[in-house]
Amino acid sequence: MSRDSGDNLDRNLSGNLPMASVMDAYLSRRAVVRGGLGAAIAMIAGAGLAGCFDSGASTPAPTPKPATPKLGFQSIKGSRTDACVVAAGYSAYVLAPWGTPLNNSGKPWQADGSNSAADQANAMGMHHDGMHFFPINGSSDDGLLAINFEYIDTAALHPAGPTTVDGKRPAEEVRKEINAHGAGVVRIRKVGGRWQVVDNDPLNRRFTTATVMDIAGPLRGTEHVKTRFSPSGIECRGTNNNCGNGYTPWGTYLTCEENWPGIFVNTAPRPADQVRIGVSATTGQYSWETAAGDTSEFDDEFARFNLTPSGASASDDYRNEASTYGYIVEIDPYNSATRAVKRTALGRFRHEGCCPGLAVAGKPLVWYSGDDSNNEYLYKFVSDAPWDPADAKPADRLATGAKYLDKGKLYVARFDADGKGVWLLLDAVTATTDGTTLGARFGDLAGIILNTRGAADAVGATPMDRPEWTAVNPLNGDAYLTLTNNSARSPDKVDAANPRGPNRHGHIIRWHESDDHQRFTWDIFVFGANAAGGPDINRSGLTEMNQFASPDGMRFDSRGVLWFETDNGEQSVTSYTNDQLLAVIPTDLVDGSGKQIPVNASNQVDLRRFFVGPNGCEVTGIAFTPDNKTLFVNIQHPENWPASGIATDATPSGEKVRPRSSTVVIQRNDGGEIGIT
Ligand code: FEO
Ligand code: CA
Ligand code: CA
Repeated sequence: MSRDSGDNLDRNLSGNLPMASVMDAYLSRRAVVRGGLGAAIAMIAGAGLAGCFDSGASTPAPTPKPATPKLGFQSIKGSRTDACVVAAGYSAYVLAPWGTPLNNSGKPWQADGSNSAADQANAMGMHHDGMHFFPINGSSDDGLLAINFEYIDTAALHPAGPTTVDGKRPAEEVRKEINAHGAGVVRIRKVGGRWQVVDNDPLNRRFTTATVMDIAGPLRGTEHVKTRFSPSGIECRGTNNNCGNGYTPWGTYLTCEENWPGIFVNTAPRPADQVRIGVSATTGQYSWETAAGDTSEFDDEFARFNLTPSGASASDDYRNEASTYGYIVEIDPYNSATRAVKRTALGRFRHEGCCPGLAVAGKPLVWYSGDDSNNEYLYKFVSDAPWDPADAKPADRLATGAKYLDKGKLYVARFDADGKGVWLLLDAVTATTDGTTLGARFGDLAGIILNTRGAADAVGATPMDRPEWTAVNPLNGDAYLTLTNNSARSPDKVDAANPRGPNRHGHIIRWHESDDHQRFTWDIFVFGANAAGGPDINRSGLTEMNQFASPDGMRFDSRGVLWFETDNGEQSVTSYTNDQLLAVIPTDLVDGSGKQIPVNASNQVDLRRFFVGPNGCEVTGIAFTPDNKTLFVNIQHPENWPASGIATDATPSGEKVRPRSSTVVIQRNDGGEIGIT
């Protein structure tokens, strides 16, 4: 999302201070004691999470360690061309770029930008981001790709860029922009060894910034979300700036609303939650509100972006429209008759992603979510209901979603300087650092969730270096978080968990939960850096072959390989390579006693560059088929790509194309599993 998607400004005025003592040396040396595979087996058996490196935690019984896979490719050099480059022995090709029709309702994509708003509503949206592969009948050759369309490049979307007439955006342009945002479900199938879109499949569908959705969880039916569109506060319209993603054990997709505040404007005094989260006091990012009053306007489709109170009550205007955004949205990809549902219990902020923890029978389910702005927080949702494996294949997936996602506890993380941490509960009785309670400050749980950032400020959460995606290791339950960078962290505000100020290269932090989910232990897994960086920058001993900055998208595959992607604007690395995808097997990075350790100069060779994208792009979104023989990634906001369906073909010299974000399929030339020997 590095270009034109909104801002990541520091709006955290809480004064929540980082820890006083800086423990860089401690962090860089830190060895992490884990239960490893033994703990994973104990968990899967329902025996709880043993082997946490917290002192006093129980130690798992010794378990013979089966052979783990090894990375089976050589790291590639950086690249700065209009091409995708992938490790030797692999191929990459374009699948479902922006504008690909999903049904027969509209025209094929037009290279002159002339497709209508209606065409766009029936086609792949713009700026592909998080995604997940949902198999049909367990197949690795036939399935549904659920995918986010994060934001738009208005210059590419319209024939000659966006226009304004007498201070108003034309209605048709605004509708096209609205329809290019959101998410989608697209049936894809492997034919002759190559994936293609199944045109007109009944499961193909789009969700846009206009699609009617249900509100569920603590905000449902409250005063906070009543609008002229839904005076009872149970419905809303649209999802926007969907960045990272998650999924559930019952087969649904979670799409995450990140930089949505930009689409609104409120010229009246803004309530505290709108100030804290960044709603504009002057104009919407795309000025959609200026199309209000157009003779073609239907059901306040443009007026709703202006939050300025104009009626007698909330049910007469759209003062609460922004309160219907900032959530995790659940989509059932397998049933196109269902609505998307906003699961408000998981908090309201700039959600980057929503990765599930390991599902253990009889234990609550867990999802992690970062709030991507400078000095924002890491959150965790824990379901009230314990996991019942019988719910893995329910008759009604969204009813199962209600069971696990509408009732639970929302926590925010405090990272302490000693390598331990605490999950701070966000509910009405929680004490605040100034001696009151969240209930006294924000009212009931709905009020707390509406003001999630403010509640996290009040309980003393740790401001982080732009929390992006989370990922959970299937082998041992360890959780990882990309902290992409933080230009707003000054040298005097560094702390143990965010030890560089400003943090230009980003890092990846990991933690391991205590049995009761109240505490955790943590370390920094790897620091982004340019290879030539000094000791304070290149703390992980990176080289030309794995230097990176601004880690962002991230996922473990089912074999315990951690893949992470970059969204980098740091010149010391961009001068060497475009954005990239790297891989590492964390459980293979151990010391002499078998304890997991961070990436360092001695083991960095096992962090390998697998893929590099074309000029100007961000590499984001990542999904695997169940057999791990297909890897999907997304190329977002390329400058001049693709020239054809072959992702690895460079644009011929001098040729300019209308750039199209796209999914890229990566397969091994011998048909084997991706990434390992
Ligand atoms: Fe949309 Fe934080 O990246
Ligand atoms: Ca980013
Ligand atoms: Ca991102």
